Amino acid sequence: MKEKYYVTTPIYYPSANFHIGHCYTTIIADAMARYKRLTGYDVYFQTGTDEHGEKIEKKAREAGVTPKEYVDKIIEDAKDLWKSLNISYDYFIRTTNEDHVRRVQKIFKKLYDQGDIYKGTYQGLYCIPCESFWTESQLIDGKCPDCGREVKLVSEEAYFFKLSKYQDKLVKYYEEHPDFILPLSRKNEMLNNFINPGLEDLCVSRTSFTWGIPVDFDPKHVVYVWIDALSNYITSLGYPEDDTLMKKYWPADLHLVGKEIVRFHVIIWPCMLMALDLPLPKQVFGHGWLKIDGGKISKSLGNYKDPREYINAYGVDAVRYYALREVPFGSDGNFSEEALIGRTNSDLANTLGNLVNRTISMAHKYFDGLTKNPKVTEAIDEELINKVASLKTVVDEKMNGLKVNEAIEEIMEVLRSCNKYIDETTPWVLAKDETKNDRLATVLYNLLESIRICAILLSPFIPDTSNKILEELNTKKTSYDTLEFGELEEDLQLNAPKILFNRIETK
Ligand code: MSP
Repeated sequence: MKEKYYVTTPIYYPSANFHIGHCYTTIIADAMARYKRLTGYDVYFQTGTDEHGEKIEKKAREAGVTPKEYVDKIIEDAKDLWKSLNISYDYFIRTTNEDHVRRVQKIFKKLYDQGDIYKGTYQGLYCIPCESFWTESQLIDGKCPDCGREVKLVSEEAYFFKLSKYQDKLVKYYEEHPDFILPLSRKNEMLNNFINPGLEDLCVSRTSFTWGIPVDFDPKHVVYVWIDALSNYITSLGYPEDDTLMKKYWPADLHLVGKEIVRFHVIIWPCMLMALDLPLPKQVFGHGWLKIDGGKISKSLGNYKDPREYINAYGVDAVRYYALREVPFGSDGNFSEEALIGRTNSDLANTLGNLVNRTISMAHKYFDGLTKNPKVTEAIDEELINKVASLKTVVDEKMNGLKVNEAIEEIMEVLRSCNKYIDETTPWVLAKDETKNDRLATVLYNLLESIRICAILLSPFIPDTSNKILEELNTKKTSYDTLEFGELEEDLQLNAPKILFNRIETK
């Protein structure tokens, strides 16, 4: 039986159309999902939208529509965006789905019945845009530490979740699972800022607005948005009504989240799961933010374009490649169109595109587009073959450590070596000498075979391009278990080379 792999993105707030920052998380999750599928896992990749809360209610009111009408439109657009980015999710969860609503109500009731949720009064400082409560000491200059906006003092009857009860168990879990929170710096931040000062019970219901999941046994309350939202990772699998998918996929292998929501995923979420007596996710990875000109991507600043504009201008794989390659995963990074163009030209048009184009063109010119098995091997071949042969293992190590940009860089390095190999073996010189025909065949075989292997390993990152290359090669050896050097068939009729990436000219 195949091993399973469950990977999630956060569920996004459909308060406005998505920008390149949302694409960033989703593209990375997609690359992980595709990589695991390639390597033989039974993958469940989930994304979706977090549709309740005061902020959405307010936005809809301003737009003169109902909250549901408001989010429906954005979600239609989001799905179109994911399609144009080739996002291969298995399930798209919406927190307004009836199944989700009913299951969250059951989770809430279960926690209430067993005494983990109780009724009390809440007084606190609340940031509406972030939907977060803060203590006085967490504020920065009296303002929300996440977004810098005003917080308001709120007092209301509310239900509370006994977070404090799980503090010791949580710390123990961190200790016993050193890879639970990555990068490590985020774990220390959690311990120092939130856990060691002492976890307070968490307010988990609201009466000040109505756009949320009603507490079914006390309907003037709606469920606090984070309880509603976090539950998505299990309600989508049928919990608590049906355990078929739960048995198959839970616990999640990887929750990918932005750094500002790590704390919800590594404090509230594990405590909820402990209360429900469910296993905890294996890993939560908190990535950095994509910035524009060093600042936040912001609708109010209007400093970003619809991501489809980049896709239309440069191609989907240029955008995917840039998002995956540019920023060391975990750190903040800057998004700029100029850098996207630079990356596309240097890596995709020059290194990859040229290599494939020149190699296949030469095979057409010298051997009528037929592949020939190697016959005359020289020392120079060995270095290249060794590099290509070890690529699978190197990429696997990098991907398992979520070093996606480094995994890609390793493949690029091999492609650069192929270009160097062409320069050094000079096939066009060999072609002038009849007696060098076998040597020429060998050189081309080594190149075509290296290209095949790299194309397979690139498929999680730039799937369309990978497909195009494998189609040009016309090979049947496209699966992960054909990565041994030398699997490329003899006498394959190669298809005509096509331009994979045009160099983008800038003014
Ligand atoms: N709805 C919550 C998540 C609930 S998960 C149970 C939420 N939504 S969000 O739309 O505000 O953000 C969703 C994700 O998008 C976060 O992980 C956030 O970090 C990510 N990003 C939003 N802007 C981003 C950038 N500029 N750069 C990188 N990621 C960004 O929080």
